This record gives sequence, C-alpha cells and structure tokens, in this order.
Amino acid sequence: MNSKTTEKDIVIDIQKIKNDFPILKRQIRDNKLVYLDSGASTQKPIEVINAHTEYFNQINSNIHRGLHTLAEEATNAYEKTRTHIAKFIGGVKTCEVIFTSGTTESINMVAYTWGEANISEGDEIVLTDMEHHANLVPWVMLAKRKNAIIKRIPITDDGRLDLDDIDSIITEKTKLVAVTHMSNVLGTLNPIKQLAEIAHKNGALILADGAQSAPHMPVDVLDMDVDFFAFSAHKMLGPTGVGVLYGKENILEKMPPFNMGGEMISEVSFDRITWAELPHKFEAGTPNIAGVVTFDTALTYLENIGMENIHAYETKLTAYTIDKLLQIDGLKIQGPNNSINRGGAISFTDKNLHPHDISTFLDSKGIAIRAGHHCAQTLMKRMGTIATARASLYIYNDEADIDALYDALIAMRKYFGHE
Ligand code: ALA
Repeated sequence: MNSKTTEKDIVIDIQKIKNDFPILKRQIRDNKLVYLDSGASTQKPIEVINAHTEYFNQINSNIHRGLHTLAEEATNAYEKTRTHIAKFIGGVKTCEVIFTSGTTESINMVAYTWGEANISEGDEIVLTDMEHHANLVPWVMLAKRKNAIIKRIPITDDGRLDLDDIDSIITEKTKLVAVTHMSNVLGTLNPIKQLAEIAHKNGALILADGAQSAPHMPVDVLDMDVDFFAFSAHKMLGPTGVGVLYGKENILEKMPPFNMGGEMISEVSFDRITWAELPHKFEAGTPNIAGVVTFDTALTYLENIGMENIHAYETKLTAYTIDKLLQIDGLKIQGPNNSINRGGAISFTDKNLHPHDISTFLDSKGIAIRAGHHCAQTLMKRMGTIATARASLYIYNDEADIDALYDALIAMRKYFGHE
C-alpha cells in the first residue's frame, strides 16, 4: 500500500493526504515525525486550520442571539455543522444532535440527566471490562448515588467481548447498557447492534461510546439502534473542545436539562422556568462556536476520502502493523492479534521494558505513541498489566511509518541489551 494505493475497494492517495497535514513535516530530534497517537488526538489538515482562522477573520460572533449579519452568519455556520453531523451518523434529526465539549461531557450529560431521573435502588447498569474511564466513572458514581448495581460483560484473553453469559448479564433488571463501540486500548470493535437488540428486548437503553469508532468507519446510529451515541471532534481531524451527543428524540424530550443558563430556556420568571426546544435545552451558555464551525470542514475532508475507504485502508494497515509487531520476540499484542473486527489502536507490551521506556525511546527516534493505562485502569487489571504501549493509526499513516516503528523497536531492544 504505497502512494496512490488502489486496491479492490480502497482508493487512498496517501502522499496527498500526508501533504495536507503541515505538522507531519516537523522534525523531532532530527527525525521526521512519525505520528502514531491518533487515538489520543488526531492531527489537522490545512483546510481545517484555515477554516478556524477564516471563522475569526470573517464571521466571529455569538450565535442564536444577535440580529446583525455576523450573528446570522455564525449561527448558520454552527447549525450547518449540526445538519452535517445528523447526516454523517446515519440521517438522524438535527434536534437529536447535541453539541458538548467532548465524549466525556456527552456521557456525563446522560448520567446526570437521564440517569438521575431514571435509575433507582437495585437497578442494574451493564458495562464491559474494556471501558474507558469516561464510560465507567460516571456510571459507577451514579450507581453509588442511587444504590444501583454495576454489572460487567467480561472479555476473552484475546480482548473480545465474551457474550457466552449475556442472558444472565443483561436482564429485565437492566436499565442501561453502556459500551464502547471500539476499545481505545485493544482496538476491538464491539457488536453494538446485537447488544442493542438484547438491551431493548429487556426494556433497557443502550449508550455507545463512539470516540474511537466514528473517526474511522461509517457509523449509522439508526441501523445500530442505539439510544445514545457519543464522540469527539478532535479525534477526527477537528478541533479540541467539541463533542457530540446523539440521543433519540423521544428520550431527549423527557430528559431534564444538564447545565442551566442562557439559551436553554424558553421563559424565565422567579416562579417558573420552561425549557427551550431540543437541542437547545442541552446547550446552555456560549458554546465552542469556532470549534463547531471548523468541525464541518473536518467532516467534509473525511467524506471526500470516504469513510468506507478509510476503514478499509486502516484495516489493511492494522494487519500490516500486527504482522510486523508479531515478528519481534518478547513483544505481546494486547488485544486481538488479527485485523478482524478491530481498528487501528494497537497496544503492546515488551517482556523486559516498561511502556514508558518504550515510548521515551521511540520519541528519541521521532515516533509518537502513547504509553500508560490509557484511562482504562480496570481493563489493565483484567489484562494483568499496569500499562501498555499503544500505536494508534489514522489515514495519514502508511507502511513506511510502521516500518519506522518496527526498526525503532528493534533498535530499542538492542540498546537495552534484549536482542
Ligand atoms: N481516550 C484517549 C486515548 O485513548 C485520550 O488516548
């Protein structure tokens, strides 16, 4: 898969894509940057960087308030992104798309509004053993406040959900199933549609954490039939500080608001306050207007490549990466060691070296990965480790980047005397 890769079903001009990202021209300690930390945050193409500047140069203003031209243009640009997202995630209604500061706030919003109103003593919330803290801590704390019960879907040793006992885990006592669509540590893609069916059969709702899936593959929340879906702009070429909560209209309608303040009300007196219509009920205060407006350009960039193409390309590159890493003695892939139903977040450990040392050594060669517990301490415990090294891929990576990673890992083992 070199420049201008054209294989069956994959059309990616990798050289053009690389050129679109100014930061990829950076040198890190006399090495060309190899960025393999997109699971944490992605880099931005020049179009997105320019759109941000353009917003401030041309239309900067507050939204949904002013009657002047700038206010109208800023409002239209902000709402254009909402319409775009509604289409991007499968053709939902715009009132079902709520802007937040990120996946974490999206999930907290559900926990503090729907959760406070609907979870009672003895109710069960089902998580999995591979959740990021963002989809774990809000539920554990809600369960503590309400005397509710947390149940977990276990995982197999190779990092897949173990659904053997699912009928005894998701039951009529279940009120919510909260599950990651793609694990930020293992890369595992979970069968959300199947879990949604089981949840609904038992009268429960399902929330999918899409922070790691929405950037990398086509997402259709209607087909998966999820009740809530959360994701972040900064993991899909957009700016930081912007996230999305999708929720089904009939559920959002009944949910109390989260933040109280301007824009989320209809009428206010000291005796009585009524809420604004969806989605504004959940968008109090001045949001990250520049970020939301810029996100539109990021989505267009992704769509111009094609989400199917992106998924197919990354699946191939993931297979290539796993094959290379498996060639290194003493290295263990933490998660599925094939590219079936998984994305390009590839965690590994070395039997002799701490992941922090791996990351520091790789950085000396200009290679950026993430090392640590990846905000998933309970998963680390399940895997019997305290940390992993993680390479996470995106559309601007190619086999040359993976070869650089492989060469650096070989050099590292030599350097530390573990050949
Ligand atoms: N959740 C992000 C990661 O996995 C920050 O790195």
